[in-house]
Amino acid sequence: MDLLGSTSPARRSTPRVSPSRRRASAAAALVLCLGLATTAAGAAPGEQPDRAQPAERAQPSEQGRPVLGDDGAGDPYFPLAGNGGIDVDHYSLDLTYTPPEAAPAPLEGHLEGVATIRLTTTEKLRRFNLDLRGPEVSQVRIDGKRTRFAQVENELQVWARGLLHQGEEVEVEVFYEATTTRPTDIEGALYGWVTTRDGAMVVSEPDGSATWFPVSDHPTDKATYDFEITVPDGLVAVANGVLEDESSEDGWTTWTWDAPDPMAAYLATATVGDFELTTTTGPDGIPIIDAIDPALPPANSADLTRTPEMLEFFAERYGPYPFVSYGAIVDDDSVGYALETQTRSFFSVRAREGTVAHELAHQWMGNHVSPGRWADIWLNEGWASYSTWMWNEHDGDATAQESFEQVMAIPADNGFWSVVVADPGSLCLFCGAIYDRGAATLHALRGEIGDDAFFELAQQWVATYGGGTATTADFEALAEEVSGQDLTTFFDVWVHQPVKPTEW
Ligand code: TRP
Ligand code: ZN
Repeated sequence: MDLLGSTSPARRSTPRVSPSRRRASAAAALVLCLGLATTAAGAAPGEQPDRAQPAERAQPSEQGRPVLGDDGAGDPYFPLAGNGGIDVDHYSLDLTYTPPEAAPAPLEGHLEGVATIRLTTTEKLRRFNLDLRGPEVSQVRIDGKRTRFAQVENELQVWARGLLHQGEEVEVEVFYEATTTRPTDIEGALYGWVTTRDGAMVVSEPDGSATWFPVSDHPTDKATYDFEITVPDGLVAVANGVLEDESSEDGWTTWTWDAPDPMAAYLATATVGDFELTTTTGPDGIPIIDAIDPALPPANSADLTRTPEMLEFFAERYGPYPFVSYGAIVDDDSVGYALETQTRSFFSVRAREGTVAHELAHQWMGNHVSPGRWADIWLNEGWASYSTWMWNEHDGDATAQESFEQVMAIPADNGFWSVVVADPGSLCLFCGAIYDRGAATLHALRGEIGDDAFFELAQQWVATYGGGTATTADFEALAEEVSGQDLTTFFDVWVHQPVKPTEW
């Protein structure tokens, strides 16, 4: 049974190439001390260069004692993702990108970036970290003044000049560059800044943003963004939000995008390629900005024709569309990739209608309400998959009940049922069960509490947690509150046990 194929966008696993995101480890030992560049050549990866030696680890800020901001946000699946002691408010990314030369030149691009990051400290800090994996930093400034930094493995450590108080707002500028390659996630799937012959496909879930900008890379640290992406004339750079400006000079075109809705870093994109941009107006006046590779024959493009209807369909169920714009990127450089990049879903060739519905539904479920921890990923994928089930039913295809029965037809001894949906482990974030058992959970919940409570729950979920994050525990609590039912057994059976549900 092609369950995954029928309901979920496939994610193509690529053969493991040498882990390119580590290729800059020589650069990982670059220290700049108050304007004096000191390279600690020969420092082994992970070994701290002399000046960056503090053996102290982050400690709780007792009695206002200054601390070294933690190197992670505390997510057990990705301990180094995100950072302690800071809360990013806004990223301004100024990128200049040169794609690879024609084959047989290596598939490597060149990226130069200046990230201007406005953040607020949440502790009294001596130092804080950003996530950065690959690019090499040449300079860091805080409020316009050069400051000391070090790159240690996948962390960029930034020392404050003096101390930063709790609640201080600072502007951090990071100057960096990278030879871009084709990074892969812990499962071996391409992600992050994926270099293509005509540009790059930039799809970073779950922790790939650090391959292209210094970032607090955890969904709990949402921020607004703007982008200025300069590429050779003829190429188009597509990011989130709305296009503010396009201007050319000396053979280079700068694409300026503004993304004013709070966004988790994994949903940011700056995809570059041969695209044709079209803007239309969707329901409720939502601008739909599509970027489609004109070389793609229609049969190979994504099936976007029903997008406006889908926008209405999901707005009726989940509440008003939450962002300034929507649209799709359809890139010919990959097969089988689809990501719900915020306001601008990414599709590779031949994305079917079900996948188009899935990524659109993510804008509410996953993007506006994001997972509090990566263990909560079923709340993204379960809702998006269930959205496709509902769309299919609406469209006269399989009913949601039939899709549910297809999942329930999987034998109890199939490994499909051995996933703990609400704690699948970092290597199973995108397992079939996260999608299909996740969707089945929602369908069973709908049966358990009835249509009225179910759709009330969906709307309250989005209204309550939109713009932020929420966990499985939050979902369980809201479901009980809205339905007035005790759902302990229900959720235990459906999302906490690695066993096929038989009664609930
Ligand atoms: N969230 C994607 C989906 O819609 C799957 C996915 C996870 C992905 N990580 C990715 C897609 C990285 C592209 C790149 O199901
Ligand atoms: Zn999805």
